[in-house]
Amino acid sequence: MNTAAEPTLNELREQIRAHDYRYYVLDEPSIADVEYDALMNELRRREAQSSEPIPVDSPTQRVGGKADGAFASITHTVPMLSLDNVFSEEAFREFYQRLQNRLNQNETLALSAEPKFDGLAMSLRYERGVLVSAATRGDGSEGEDVTANVRTISAIPLRLRGDAPEVLEVRGEIYMPHAAFEALNDHALANDQKTFANPRNAAAGSLRQLDPSVTAKRQLAFFAYGHGELQGVDLPATYSEWLERYREWGIPVCPLQTPIDGLQAAQDYYAKLGEQRAMLPYDIDGVVFKLNRYDQQAQAGFVSRAPRWAIAWKFPAVEKTTVVEAIDVQVGRTGAITPVARLQAVEVGGVTVTNATLHNADEVARKDVRAGDTVFVRRAGDVIPEVVKVVLEARPDGTQPFVMPSACPVCEAEVIKPEGEAVARCSGGLHCSAQRVQAIIHFASRQALDIQGLGDKLIEAVVSRDWVHSPADLFTLSVDDWASLPRMAEKSAQNVIDALSEAKQTTLPRFIYALGIREVGIVSAKLLANHFHSLDALLAADETILQNVDGIGPVMASYIAHFFTDQENITVINALLDAGIHWPAMPEVNDNQPLPLAGKTVVLTGTLPSLTRDEAKAMLERLGAKVSGSVSGKTDYLLAGDAAGSKLTKAQKLGVQVIDQALLQQWMDDYDSMD
Ligand code: IVH
Repeated sequence: MNTAAEPTLNELREQIRAHDYRYYVLDEPSIADVEYDALMNELRRREAQSSEPIPVDSPTQRVGGKADGAFASITHTVPMLSLDNVFSEEAFREFYQRLQNRLNQNETLALSAEPKFDGLAMSLRYERGVLVSAATRGDGSEGEDVTANVRTISAIPLRLRGDAPEVLEVRGEIYMPHAAFEALNDHALANDQKTFANPRNAAAGSLRQLDPSVTAKRQLAFFAYGHGELQGVDLPATYSEWLERYREWGIPVCPLQTPIDGLQAAQDYYAKLGEQRAMLPYDIDGVVFKLNRYDQQAQAGFVSRAPRWAIAWKFPAVEKTTVVEAIDVQVGRTGAITPVARLQAVEVGGVTVTNATLHNADEVARKDVRAGDTVFVRRAGDVIPEVVKVVLEARPDGTQPFVMPSACPVCEAEVIKPEGEAVARCSGGLHCSAQRVQAIIHFASRQALDIQGLGDKLIEAVVSRDWVHSPADLFTLSVDDWASLPRMAEKSAQNVIDALSEAKQTTLPRFIYALGIREVGIVSAKLLANHFHSLDALLAADETILQNVDGIGPVMASYIAHFFTDQENITVINALLDAGIHWPAMPEVNDNQPLPLAGKTVVLTGTLPSLTRDEAKAMLERLGAKVSGSVSGKTDYLLAGDAAGSKLTKAQKLGVQVIDQALLQQWMDDYDSMD
């Protein structure tokens, strides 16, 4: 960097705050995550070198030390109220009319409408623009001091933008977005830890951590919807205008909040939000309507613990109870056996649910779900419905714990659960018709042979008729065969034939991937293709040779070697080649080309959006990097995904540059295009 142009520490802090504002408030980031990370690292490095004390509101000062016991309590100078609920249009109309009467107003009321967020109420206290404390609602007059944890939430500014009042208490909701919730539970499942039943519990659990570095990893978010104590600032005429001030100060406000006029508009808003609900990236459980004008709020006043000027009109629950009729198992492409609860049909959040995943045998055991049980089922967003918990009091006599079948329910081959793995598998391979269907779905999928128009239903139909035993058989069917299937006309049959014919021209990596070898994703398939250049050379490689391919670990090497020693797989491959599948010769890789990451040490942590660890490792090694297990002073980069843990904290402490999957892919693409 040019020293003359080097920003001061404060300028760097301001730059980062401006990016936070664009990201969390405007929802218009202007730089990529990696660039943002680079700025943060730069600030961290420069702060470490500087002799100036680091201000508490510096963007680097989010994670502090552990608390050693319970949380201290904080008294709310302005009590935190709750809301009255209504559950029907009629009850909402009554609320509206009561307000009209009280305000002596027959004209339409000016209201504010916004989602009711399903998280935890929080009071954030800013003094002269700096966040000084954060407290839960508690009993409304006294809450818990969770400042250290709240400081780790990137969406909450440590310092307000622009002119800040003497005292500003922002009230709002801390919540966990679906993506963060799923990543957290996936990580918990993979590590044999307890999962959270819903994002609300996960948010609450995350805030009650004694170690703020744990909260920091949980990706909590915040929306403001009210205020507590104020000094040195006057409220504007309306709540909507006040929220606008929040935005200017850099405090996130839900973009779905809007002023509306009258009863009909309120009902329309409720209906529309109900439709959008399943698509939102976070849980909501109703709409909150408030009088928009502060003078009218004052006139309406309060009853006991809730204001008369606001109401929560709740949506029907997304958690319902129903009865488990049976627990079946489903067989996946690689034989993985997943227990599934067959449910008495129940409508959950507008969708009829008849199945819910139970993940694996350990999960069934942990929740102790049995056929005959009454269970809570939940749906959130577009997540697969799942069984939350059993209503034990309602368990009928004579229920039996679930036992994983010892034979595959489809092909009767033995079910094997390797020691230390959570997943049980059918050992039938392609003899198992369930695995066959999944293998062919994989073969036809976008990154494999990309056979347009050959959907899951069609594949099931041809496999169940015993017309197709392997992907090669797809190419033997005639137009008449396809046309004889349900809902297929001559035209659509011809389209499938054409698509199959088009798919015959492919590439070696796609072909290798399409074979469906366990653990071999598209990235590993590319590595193999680049290394061996031809299918024959790959087929000739034994396990030791495979292990020596950069990026292919011993486990994957053994799966690949096994796959190619199975005579049946070779027969299928030959039949595919006979059917006319072909690809252009692989370009020669220039071995003299300098590797972009030569001499660099990279550490991996967390769950990446779409690459397995092996794949990411393979890519890094192909770029010349050495992949190491732990972060130290010698580490050049940390490749971090979701739920990154102590390695991330350590890397940040040491000022190691943190990169993400997108950047790795970019490097890989740049490198590939150099050929
Ligand atoms: S306003 C005096 N607005 O609902 C009114 N509350 O059931 C204060 N909540 O404790 C609350 N979304 O945690 C308000 N848009 C929203 C809300 C909201 C969720 C929560 C809040 C409150 C609870 C009351």
